[in-house]
Amino acid sequence: MLPNFNWLLGLGLLGVASTAHTVQLSKHAQDLFDESMFFQDMIYDSNAHYLRFFYYPLAAGVHETRSSVWRTVGLLQRNHGDDAAEAAKILELVIADQEKDTSKQWYGDYTVYPEQPTVGGPAYDPSYRDLLPSHVQDLILGSIYNSTVGDTYRVGGVDDDNLYPAYTNPWLMRTVASAWTGLKMNDSNMTYWGDKWAEEFLDLYNVNNTISEYNSPTYVGVSLYALAIAAKYMTNITNAPVIAQHSEQIIRDIWEVESLLWNPMMRNFAGPWDRTYGYDMNNYLAIISLWIWSFIGKDHAYNNPNPIGTMTHADDLEIGPLVAVLADSQKKLIPESVLNRFRTSHFVGEHTYHGQTYAPPVDYEPRNVTTWVSANLTIGTESFNQTALGGSREDTNAFNPAVVQWLRSDGSVGYLTWYSTEKAMQAEVAPYALNLTYPEGNETSVFTFALSSNPLGAKRDIYTLDAIDGLKIEVGGTVNPEPVVSFCGILGGTCPIIHDFEFWNITFVMPANSSEIPSIHFNFSLE
Ligand SMILES: *[C@@H]1O[C@H](CO)[C@@H](O)[C@H](O)[C@H]1NC(C)=O
Ligand SMILES: *[C@@H]1O[C@H](CO)[C@@H](O)[C@H](O)[C@H]1NC(C)=O
Ligand SMILES: *[C@@H]1O[C@H](CO)[C@@H](O)[C@H](O)[C@H]1NC(C)=O
Ligand SMILES: *[C@@H]1O[C@H](CO)[C@@H](O)[C@H](O)[C@H]1NC(C)=O
Ligand SMILES: *[C@@H]1O[C@H](CO)[C@@H](O)[C@H](O)[C@H]1NC(C)=O
Ligand SMILES: *[C@@H]1O[C@H](CO)[C@@H](O)[C@H](O)[C@H]1NC(C)=O
Ligand SMILES: *[C@@H]1O[C@H](CO)[C@@H](O)[C@H](O)[C@H]1NC(C)=O
Ligand SMILES: *[C@@H]1O[C@H](CO)[C@@H](O)[C@H](O)[C@H]1NC(C)=O
Ligand SMILES: *[C@@H]1O[C@H](CO)[C@@H](O)[C@H](O)[C@H]1NC(C)=O
Ligand SMILES: *[C@@H]1O[C@H](CO)[C@@H](O)[C@H](O)[C@H]1NC(C)=O
Ligand SMILES: *[C@@H]1O[C@H](CO)[C@@H](O)[C@H](O)[C@H]1NC(C)=O
Ligand SMILES: *[C@@H]1O[C@H](CO)[C@@H](O)[C@H](O)[C@H]1NC(C)=O
Repeated sequence: MLPNFNWLLGLGLLGVASTAHTVQLSKHAQDLFDESMFFQDMIYDSNAHYLRFFYYPLAAGVHETRSSVWRTVGLLQRNHGDDAAEAAKILELVIADQEKDTSKQWYGDYTVYPEQPTVGGPAYDPSYRDLLPSHVQDLILGSIYNSTVGDTYRVGGVDDDNLYPAYTNPWLMRTVASAWTGLKMNDSNMTYWGDKWAEEFLDLYNVNNTISEYNSPTYVGVSLYALAIAAKYMTNITNAPVIAQHSEQIIRDIWEVESLLWNPMMRNFAGPWDRTYGYDMNNYLAIISLWIWSFIGKDHAYNNPNPIGTMTHADDLEIGPLVAVLADSQKKLIPESVLNRFRTSHFVGEHTYHGQTYAPPVDYEPRNVTTWVSANLTIGTESFNQTALGGSREDTNAFNPAVVQWLRSDGSVGYLTWYSTEKAMQAEVAPYALNLTYPEGNETSVFTFALSSNPLGAKRDIYTLDAIDGLKIEVGGTVNPEPVVSFCGILGGTCPIIHDFEFWNITFVMPANSSEIPSIHFNFSLE
């Protein structure tokens, strides 16, 4: 689930400068917009003036704040009937619930859901300003201001906080919010901090010209949202904030990298994924898929006709209106040759990508990324040496530094992805081959992989590697070549599913009393 950001910002931005009513959307952006709004209309509670809380967690009878704020952008953009009045109503309710006690650590935060016991934004396009009563416009600005002040309460390493420049998506959101609010409210302290945080981000970014939250299909989408706001609303003004001055180049860099990792046959980014919510982007909704959809069409984002509501993280479709209104200005920044790499018809063919990315304080040194992409098989990995298990967010379920995907006979995507059990790993990739080594491992080390279930019609059970549909695997290295196999199922099995994906747990162990450095060598072939 996405954090409780200053999503109102989007709304604020949309309100800064404008003259025209609503944003002119291209065909694909409009298509995303319409599907997201259709979905929202089904789950909107017009008595409460909130969207019902759909998914994550499934909640009986409660509503959700964040997606309701996203909806206001959709309502203002659509502006049919009482849409604009409804948006104003939602905003008044949400802002009334925002934390107002400056002594609280969560000062300026919005509720997660309005029924929530007392605890601890989108884009407001200038185009929409005239659609909202002036007292609501003032409320929005005050609310964004308080939220931006609240954001400053977070300091990485203090009070268990983890907001470092390497935590790319919230760091960029805060930076852009502070820069924008500083400009809008003439608050030189906010402007100063917006620029300071931008410089800290750039110091890290410039190490390898990659974002630290590398190739994370949901969160790269959020980082692009922040950068797209900076590019659209703050670039071409005098004294543009530092983040805005660099936003266009960073957006282009991100799409250059992502386009080389994209497999257009599978509609998936090859690995490694620093943080993922699933193993096949056709079966979970990643926010970056919505950007691809809004640029070149839904057909290019997904390779099967699964209705979005049947995918995990379907709730993130609710961000659709925000993506749609920022899509066309972002698309203009991306060269056509790069966008083309997302189309099956323009697949560049087999290629190997090398890159580096760095996320202190968890990374001792930059990670080395190597990804081999071919039409029907991709192998993507990174070598790393870290202070903790599970990557920068210390989340073993989300960190996937060695991923194999292949296209199966029914058009579905198989996956085999390494599960974190070590803080350091060396990975080598060549066409059809992958070697993994644990420099600090010993005979107790294991190599665990999450392996997809076979598609319908293929063998149900995978107790040996030759039962895998579509992929032949030869195993070498210092491990026992016969894995220990268990099933982590939606219904039954011996271990829990991860991000709602079921999988076969394939675990390779070392021979007893081995004194060798643990390694596993794979050679793959497609059937
Ligand atoms: C912002 O916070 C202050 C207290 O710090 C509060 O008085 C004010 O009402 C808040 N503004 C909004 C729009 O909620
Ligand atoms: C200026 O901003 C910093 C960082 O956000 C904050 O800690 C400080 O209290 C602010 N100072 C004033 C005078 O508002
Ligand atoms: C900020 O300053 C500009 C120019 O000095 C002025 O037009 C604007 O009204 C000010 N905005 C606020 C919120 O004070
Ligand atoms: C990544 O950063 C490291 C450390 O500064 C540097 O040695 C390396 O050359 C950089 N690599 C790339 C591809 O930028
Ligand atoms: C800003 O202006 C430059 C030069 O006119 C233009 O190339 C660029 O696309 C503009 N950026 C945005 C986000 O409009
Ligand atoms: C990839 O798979 C498709 C469909 O199964 C097949 O038509 C095509 O020849 C394969 N391509 C390569 C390069 O193996
Ligand atoms: C990445 O590659 C560089 C250059 O080969 C090497 O010095 C560094 O140790 C590698 N980093 C990791 C984490 O393996
Ligand atoms: C990881 O980095 C630490 C700190 O620099 C170092 O002590 C350790 O030897 C490194 N491990 C590997 C496998 O490179
Ligand atoms: C894996 O290791 C084996 C044995 O050292 C070597 O022959 C092979 O080339 C390596 N494969 C890769 C992808 O580096
Ligand atoms: C093997 O590594 C584990 C985990 O680091 C450690 O607890 C164990 O003592 C090591 N065993 C030997 C024999 O070194
Ligand atoms: C995979 O299976 C091994 C036993 O072979 C178990 O120890 C481990 O916890 C399992 N890992 C996952 C992610 O299910
Ligand atoms: C491994 O070493 C232990 C202790 O030295 C010994 O008892 C055991 O028999 C050995 N196991 C094998 C399979 O060699």
